[in-house]
Amino acid sequence: MDKFIIRGGTPLEGSIRISGAKNSALPCMAAAILTEDEVVLENIPDVRDIETERRLLASMGAEVELGYGRAHHRTRIRCAVLSDPVAKYEIVKTMRASSLVLGPLVARTGLARVAMPGGCAIGGRPIDLHIKGLQAMGAEIVQEHGYLEARASRLRGAHIVFDKITVTGTEDLLMAAVLADGETVMENCAREPEVTDLAALLTTMGARIEGAGSATIRVQGAEKLHGGRHRINPDRIEAGTFLIAGAITGGDITLTGCNPLHLSSVLGKLRECGVSIETTTDTIRVRGSQALRAADISTEEYPGFPTDMQAQFMALATQAQGASVVTENIFENRFMHVQELIRMGANIRVDGRIAIVQGRSPLSAAAVMASDLRASASLVLAALVAEGETIIDRVYHIDRGYERIEEKLRGVGAKIRRIGNVFRDSEAPAAAAVQ
Ligand code: UD1
Repeated sequence: MDKFIIRGGTPLEGSIRISGAKNSALPCMAAAILTEDEVVLENIPDVRDIETERRLLASMGAEVELGYGRAHHRTRIRCAVLSDPVAKYEIVKTMRASSLVLGPLVARTGLARVAMPGGCAIGGRPIDLHIKGLQAMGAEIVQEHGYLEARASRLRGAHIVFDKITVTGTEDLLMAAVLADGETVMENCAREPEVTDLAALLTTMGARIEGAGSATIRVQGAEKLHGGRHRINPDRIEAGTFLIAGAITGGDITLTGCNPLHLSSVLGKLRECGVSIETTTDTIRVRGSQALRAADISTEEYPGFPTDMQAQFMALATQAQGASVVTENIFENRFMHVQELIRMGANIRVDGRIAIVQGRSPLSAAAVMASDLRASASLVLAALVAEGETIIDRVYHIDRGYERIEEKLRGVGAKIRRIGNVFRDSEAPAAAAVQ
């Protein structure tokens, strides 16, 4: 398995281009199931989860070409025939977002068999709200042998109120609703930019959707959708991670091709910590401060502080003067990075969903282990300021969602290299199923 070796202590300087958002690309690829025509997606990130989704769609009979027309980040998908509408456990266990194919499959083919995702490193990840919504739309759902089987000759529009805000749940039911008979009204929806991105693609495919990006979404179902072409939003979590890389090393980095509007809560917290931030419509310049200040964060649904930035923020808090209180409200067990940060010299106390980070602690290099996608990113950030050479094992977690992170960091002066064999899928433990 690959490892990163990182020598800390260099302020990062230069510019980094932000890739397309993995969490937009995954539902947009699943949306191609809804039509027999071709769907072309631009700005698809070159990360492992995208390759996993390609395999998932291909295993059902879809034609998927990544890097289409010699454009590295363009993907062409054609689901003319879906001969095997099954999401197999071997794929679902490594990428929980595979459950995103449930809604579109049953809407298009009348049948979906999707392996139950099970738990993962950050806690139980139920999909009960996806199931309840599909049942409200008339699907018959049975669960046996670890699979969910959903059937409906045609889904019908329904009034759905989510008990809890769920991002992929909103996306999954949105994709089901666009082919349902009649109107669907969904309340308490996720307002994440990834939901809006998916709705934009569906609209180009002929869907009639109102309210995406707000708590209430209305859909007038159509008999059929046609193909479409869409450019994926920039990845706000990748951007946020590099902003912290600039801030934690006291560097000066400009991110290009990003959308500052999607990062308001993160930018606000960085400013509170004393970090200098300047934005244009599609760039963000971050300049670190010698005297970072502590700040409290509490993860919330969008537009609140994203849970996917909590681990990275905690790495920054170890370098800020004073105590930062970090409250994780979205997932029950998302402090896997804490023990590893403590091994590097951080002073962090966890009590249930709250972590108190007492800074500033000088960090020193250690051998540490990545446990999930964003936890791994926090270890990379800590290593960038640690004294000595940190070895991060199991970087396949980071490869799931960050495009060539070591090359991007090297481009701004970081001393980071990858060693080991290129990771093979057969080595992926089920615990890789995060996000
Ligand atoms: C998505 C993101 C992930 C991010 C998360 C929260 C993708 C591919 N992944 O994950 O990066 O961390 O949003 O912003 O977009 N829940 C239920 N029942 C359900 C569904 C969810 O109880 O049927 C709970 C979850 O356990 C969790 C909360 O709702 O506590 C939010 O989860 P959800 O928004 O669904 O996360 P994902 O969509 O899986």
